[in-house]
Amino acid sequence: MNPVEIIKKKRDSNKLTKQEIDFFIDGYLENKIPEYQMSSFLMSIFFSLMDEEETFHLTEKMLHSGSIVDLSNINKVKVDKHSTGGVGDKTSIILAPMVASCGIAVPMISGRGLGHTGGTLDKLESIPYFNVNLSLDDYKKVIEKIGVVMIGQTKEIAPADKRIYALRDVTATIENISLISASIMSKKLAEGIDSLVLDVKTGTGAFMKSFDESVNLAKSLVKIGNMMQKKTVAYITSMDDVLGFAVGNWLEIVECIKCLRNEIVVSDLMEVTYLLGGTMLKLGGVASSIEDGIKKCQEVIQNGKAYEKFLQIVETQNGDVSFIENIEKYPKSKFEIEIFSNENGFISDINSLEIGLSAILIGAGRMKIDDKIDYKSGIVMNKKVGDKIHKGELLVKFFTDNKSTCDIVKQRIHNAIKIVPESTKPKQLVKAYIDENTNVNFHF
Ligand code: URA
Repeated sequence: MNPVEIIKKKRDSNKLTKQEIDFFIDGYLENKIPEYQMSSFLMSIFFSLMDEEETFHLTEKMLHSGSIVDLSNINKVKVDKHSTGGVGDKTSIILAPMVASCGIAVPMISGRGLGHTGGTLDKLESIPYFNVNLSLDDYKKVIEKIGVVMIGQTKEIAPADKRIYALRDVTATIENISLISASIMSKKLAEGIDSLVLDVKTGTGAFMKSFDESVNLAKSLVKIGNMMQKKTVAYITSMDDVLGFAVGNWLEIVECIKCLRNEIVVSDLMEVTYLLGGTMLKLGGVASSIEDGIKKCQEVIQNGKAYEKFLQIVETQNGDVSFIENIEKYPKSKFEIEIFSNENGFISDINSLEIGLSAILIGAGRMKIDDKIDYKSGIVMNKKVGDKIHKGELLVKFFTDNKSTCDIVKQRIHNAIKIVPESTKPKQLVKAYIDENTNVNFHF
């Protein structure tokens, strides 16, 4: 087979065979197909799309590029959650210890920042010495020992996604249902789970901007999961505002630490986290209903068990717990910039895509594949959509070492926040539930 012919075939909107997909992924992993041909292949999929069958073959191929972990020796139900990516979406950091302390096993394999969205792995790596690169053996040992583990794709787990994900990030080939489905499900199906809850983001800060596109993505993910005998369901949740207040790796970890310690209540973040957690407990058979699961999750936040479990994860994965226990120890950014409101009114819109892109400009994300992240940089919102604001009141603070981007970022963030004179309502956060048969439910 000839890679150019396969690229051309997809470019011209023809259906690829399983053999052609396999040939392309194998060739790339064996370095016979160079990055520029893979980039072109991804762009041809981006424009010409793949159908359900092609998407399934691509997922299977990426899944089988590595090992599928066998966790059958662990006699707890194994459930995970994955998000399609958002701005300030830090739910995994709270969810994993919270759900694990309720008695189900959480084997979690996550990705790095992608486009304007943050990644769980980068957030975890902002904790000094935290090791997300465990071998498969250690991955199994950790989940056996503490009931939860949080790692990235290794050479052994979905290595095709590891490379393609990084390439998509810098070639504008992220926002495609087939590529996202194959990327997420190849990781998730490899990790040894029984069930999966998906958080499909929708709105300005999501990869899928419209509700209908998000539902199509959710259906694609749910269908693949259930075809592979993993009970999979999805929620569609809003990205028309930042989730919580912090955007940026260490800043998000700090927000999670405070939520886990029950020191602050971040209502939108915790609403999504509790709903996902309650659903995981229901799927894992330790809650009689989602509501019962939510109650159990709230209990372990209130009694400190979720925080204890988080400390245990950090310690077991070699992270320096002293930074968690004393967040003030962390290095500080050179510049702390405050943005104030120029008017009285109400926040009607926060363009979370612009907030995510601004976070990259100040060092919290990557523009090139090998860019180093400044973990301490980021943005802290002071207001949410629906909030009242006075002229001169603080809107946003951001932290960076990069002075050259401060003025432009200040302007972009200002422009991203719309203030109107009349009162506004917060956006609906949880928009729909997609059950395992891909039915879309608005009341759940
Ligand atoms: N998360 C992933 O793991 N992959 C994508 O393509 C998008 C979000």
